[in-house]
Amino acid sequence: MKTAITELFDIQHPILNAGMGRIAYPEMVIAVCNAGGLGVYGAGSNPPERVREDIRRIRAATDRPFGINAPLALPNAMENVKIALEEEVPVINYSMGRGDWIVKRARTYGGKVMASVNSVKLAVSAQKHGADAVIAAGHEAAGHAGDITTFVLVPRLAELLDIPIIAAGGVANGAGLVGALALGAEGVSMGTRMLLTNEGVVHDNFKQRAVESDVDRTLYSNKFDGHMCRVLNTPGPERIYNGKQSLNPVSIFLQSFGIARELEQPYLKMFSDVLRKGPKETFAMMRMARMLKMGTLARDTGDLEHGQCGAGMSVGLVHDIPSIAEVIERVVAEAEESFGRLAGLMERDVVAREAAAAAGRSISSAAA
Ligand SMILES: Cc1cc2nc3c(=O)[nH]c(=O)nc-3n(C[C@H](O)[C@H](O)[C@H](O)COP(=O)(O)O)c2cc1C
Repeated sequence: MKTAITELFDIQHPILNAGMGRIAYPEMVIAVCNAGGLGVYGAGSNPPERVREDIRRIRAATDRPFGINAPLALPNAMENVKIALEEEVPVINYSMGRGDWIVKRARTYGGKVMASVNSVKLAVSAQKHGADAVIAAGHEAAGHAGDITTFVLVPRLAELLDIPIIAAGGVANGAGLVGALALGAEGVSMGTRMLLTNEGVVHDNFKQRAVESDVDRTLYSNKFDGHMCRVLNTPGPERIYNGKQSLNPVSIFLQSFGIARELEQPYLKMFSDVLRKGPKETFAMMRMARMLKMGTLARDTGDLEHGQCGAGMSVGLVHDIPSIAEVIERVVAEAEESFGRLAGLMERDVVAREAAAAAGRSISSAAA
């Protein structure tokens, strides 16, 4: 399959893993790259020196191109992007911020830049800022999903943009890939599907719960980390969703050492950042830290009562926990099947038209 995305990134299949923070570690990136897709490392709020080490690990394990995702609003993100640029990572994927400076620096070594967007406005400005591609995440998506569904966002962006679009949100199988291509995308990025694999580092309890969950078992709210965000419906996030677990300044202060640890930030640095940024930003950071802490619980202990795990509506399309290599192989095979089915529909239509023409009848009566 050749698309603008396979050409742009020099990969075999137009398939990416989402650069999920604290999930898309080197093992996942290497597996996606070796299976012919574009592996994207999730820098999240990881400490910069760890990010540098991980980039070098990926490079040592594969000679295929790979990417790094950095949500610019998170602590450590700016430093992490600078490290990725110093290390000349082939593809930089930014979100939650402005990326023109990244484009400028990446150009100096031939690096490519993708912006993750969830609205028309963000996509248009990413193109204006020089991004080579956008990852467009529809309402169905895990994490910071917007209001507009993938089915509408992707074709609208295809009308508006000159750069290629990678569809995200709701894609978990070959039919999703073919659907996305039909809508005008040139590739897909999968989060939930890639999370629920052997290489996805969330605890088995959450993997099992996710596999048992149908498409309606996610929660979407801005109460989790201050931005509209979609997670798996489990008791921890459900309490926040229902307003039963609010943050207050006293609890924030009492938890501040734990929060610094969670953000992997020196306490004094976090404290001075907080003073500089003011109360609104502080509150946002605390909410973010609470979610990260719950995410660590989900990953390390599998505590279904108190942990949380990002998941999109596509969780209802995932029924097993295979390896990443199997996922990619399967998605490609299913896509071929879908193309075949569609070609079959077209053929039937052509046969019906020919029959109608020969008999001088209308196409509907010939088809009948
Ligand atoms: C566990 C998890 C963590 C995520 N973390 C990030 C992240 O750090 N940065 C980011 O841009 N998107 C993140 N996302 C969102 C994905 O990039 C993507 O938009 C989404 O997963 C697509 O929808 P899907 O899950 O239906 O494939 C995350 C998604 C999941 C499931």
